[in-house]
Amino acid sequence: MNIKRTELDLREELDRLKSENRDLIIGFVPTMGALHQGHAQLIKKALEQSDIVVVSVFVNPTQFNNEADLENYPRTEEADAELLRDLGCDILFLPSVKDVYPESTDSIKIDLNGLDLVMEGAFRTGHFDGVVTVVNRLFELVQPNKAFFGKKDFQQLAIINRMVEVLEWGITIVGVEIQRSEKGLALSSRNSLLSEKELTDALIIHDTLVFGKSIYKSGRNALDLRTEMETFFNKGELKLEYLSIVDNKSLQDVMIVNDECTVCIAAYCGEVRLIDNTQFGVF
Ligand code: PAJ
Repeated sequence: MNIKRTELDLREELDRLKSENRDLIIGFVPTMGALHQGHAQLIKKALEQSDIVVVSVFVNPTQFNNEADLENYPRTEEADAELLRDLGCDILFLPSVKDVYPESTDSIKIDLNGLDLVMEGAFRTGHFDGVVTVVNRLFELVQPNKAFFGKKDFQQLAIINRMVEVLEWGITIVGVEIQRSEKGLALSSRNSLLSEKELTDALIIHDTLVFGKSIYKSGRNALDLRTEMETFFNKGELKLEYLSIVDNKSLQDVMIVNDECTVCIAAYCGEVRLIDNTQFGVF
């Protein structure tokens, strides 16, 4: 595996590979590191569907709306490199802030059609401006044919699809299923910040999603379903930030639930903020 730390080094290598094979399919997996089996799943998909796989690890300062969260974000560069090597990743890109933001860290502004105003966008001001800006910049640097994103970040995936359409990137975006622990906790870099007890407490998120699906029927009133799910969730130890039942495309709250809806949860487990979701009608 090749490790590239600057824009110039990365471009040189990719241009060299492209000059050998003009039809080379470059698959790209952007990450913030502290890699786990959720990320690994994206990388495996990328390896299956591309000739060359580039994985970036960059803890993007502009998408954190809280200094402490940025500071505490786990950084495990050596272990990440080892995992990527074992998986068969071709290029690990570890850019500096200067490479990603050579001039300013100002966010680009594109019309996200309201996708950025709800849920994560409502509770984490500026978060998606930072995500869109960094992913757009990483696309400029890597120039992939395909890029892989997890469904764990359901809203992020919808927003990236929108960005690619608006900016006419011509990149195929592939959504990858959520990877969970044996007991159901969605894998996340932030899980490493949880204590043993918190890891158990956090299971209430998935349990609530499973409960919601068990009482779901297409055509049910969304408010009633939400209330029942919230009551279930509140039996646990976590502090709920939101539980939203939204349309898969518009991400707006729905009145009536059907198979085209997803329920999204954000909650605090101690100091650690966790998110998860599941789509109704998919088993
Ligand atoms: P990060 O949280 O590192 O996640 C990188 C990718 O891995 C995202 O597409 C995310 O949805 C996916 N992922 C994380 N946990 C997953 C799981 N349990 N199952 C499936 N996929 C999972 O998301 C980001 O980084 C950043 O916002 C980024 C896109 C890199 C921009 O900075």
